[in-house]
Amino acid sequence: MLEISFSAETLPQGGALALLVPEGAEAPALFKSLDDATGGTLSRAVKADEFTGKEGSSTVVLAPGAGFDRVVLIGVGRAEAFEPKDAEKAGGIAATALGRGEKAALAVGSLPHAAHVALGAVLGAYHFSLYHGAPEDDKTHRLASLTVLAADAAQAEAAWPALSAVARGVILTRDLVTEPANVLNPVEFAERVSTLRSLGLDVEVLDQPAMEKLGFGALLGVAQGSDAEPRTVIMRWNGGEKDDAPLAFIGKGVTFDSGGISIKPAAGMEEMKWDMAGAATVTGLMAALAGRKAKVNAVGVIGLVENMVSGNAQRPGDVVRSASGQTIEVLNTDAEGRLVLADILWYARERFAPKLMVDLATLTGAIIISLGHEYAGLFSNNDNLAGGLAQAGEITGDKLWRMPMGKEYDALLKSDIADMKNIGGRPGGSITAAQFLKRFVGETPWAHLDIAGTAWSSKPRNGQPKGATGFGVRLLDTFVRTQHEKA
Ligand code: BES
Ligand code: MN
Ligand code: ZN
Repeated sequence: MLEISFSAETLPQGGALALLVPEGAEAPALFKSLDDATGGTLSRAVKADEFTGKEGSSTVVLAPGAGFDRVVLIGVGRAEAFEPKDAEKAGGIAATALGRGEKAALAVGSLPHAAHVALGAVLGAYHFSLYHGAPEDDKTHRLASLTVLAADAAQAEAAWPALSAVARGVILTRDLVTEPANVLNPVEFAERVSTLRSLGLDVEVLDQPAMEKLGFGALLGVAQGSDAEPRTVIMRWNGGEKDDAPLAFIGKGVTFDSGGISIKPAAGMEEMKWDMAGAATVTGLMAALAGRKAKVNAVGVIGLVENMVSGNAQRPGDVVRSASGQTIEVLNTDAEGRLVLADILWYARERFAPKLMVDLATLTGAIIISLGHEYAGLFSNNDNLAGGLAQAGEITGDKLWRMPMGKEYDALLKSDIADMKNIGGRPGGSITAAQFLKRFVGETPWAHLDIAGTAWSSKPRNGQPKGATGFGVRLLDTFVRTQHEKA
């Protein structure tokens, strides 16, 4: 992870420097001293590029003098409208634009949210390099350390430990999501979660016999075609009052989704290595909560399986019995995520009687058709919970859009020979998937986040690299902090 330090604003001794510049305001003091030191090079560059500080704009000035290799000016728009999520975006753009210089600084000036600028920079500099050759061959290698220059460096420094715990959570999520499925199978995933005990998390791993005993027929039906054994992992963070009911976070962890016997087309199937993003997000969130010692009781439950094709794979038409006792006719083995969630949602509710449950899942292709890659789908049986999550989405930029539910959709799940079937047809495919899940949560306030469109990005976006986004970690961390933690 990019190493961050904070310092009160002084002109650094050369190297690479990024400067955040608001629009329609006097240029930051550092701009002026740097302009003087370089004989007016900066103001000439600003003029030549018609740079005004507009949000999303930037100008790179190479070798402007005074020992600097590069100076990057990053427009952030009007200072009054500069929110934490804008700070993160600017930090991400800066980290990318700074290149891979030895010595780099990022000047925030008197803008607020310097710690969020640092968070954006850390995440913007993220690169998964485990399987590259020697680092010097790695053309995308990024910065190693960054000094954030801020008028209020002391405040930023005080805010940073909690935010860096969140950064580590997002990075953990991205690392898990990016790992190929031959490495990260359910057993390995559970091993990695177990290492989080060092953060003070309670981690419990259920193996196949344990799940058989609990009657997880729906989850186990998905897993039976794979040589990799399934796991359910329970993470607990007890930072709240002793008898406060916990918040429960539930994640779909299909480490590879071939579709099973209802096999997917070859083109793009490699993307299904990230069909465990829901579980990775819950893991990153729990790491963040533990890392910053959140004053809350939380439990994470993730269902880890691989959906494969083999002589023992589940067949279309099979009927399975879920842990809740309800039976399911599996008409399409590719609608597997809901089968996994059915058992762990029920289990989380029965075992922990949580205050609320939020599940995350790359559940349907249909949500990408509905919302594209901007918003994740939000489904809920509780307006208060849905409103709170949507609000955290606006604050963090991990945006949610509420989708409808209702008994008319629920009727589409009727099966001729079982309590329900696992598909409801193409129309409203994300909604019937949510209706299916709803049958396993009882009266518990519950929300389902369909992150199929937001867990992975095929191009860089908002100052963040392409690939795994870590969507949902900042969202839920902020949801917990602003709505469920005692100050
Ligand atoms: N994991 C997929 C959904 C998905 C698709 C995630 C694209 C990310 C990108 C899920 O298991 C699936 O296959 N859903 C089916 C459901 C259908 C068979 C009812 C789908 O969306 O096509
Ligand atoms: Mn599938
Ligand atoms: Zn899937």
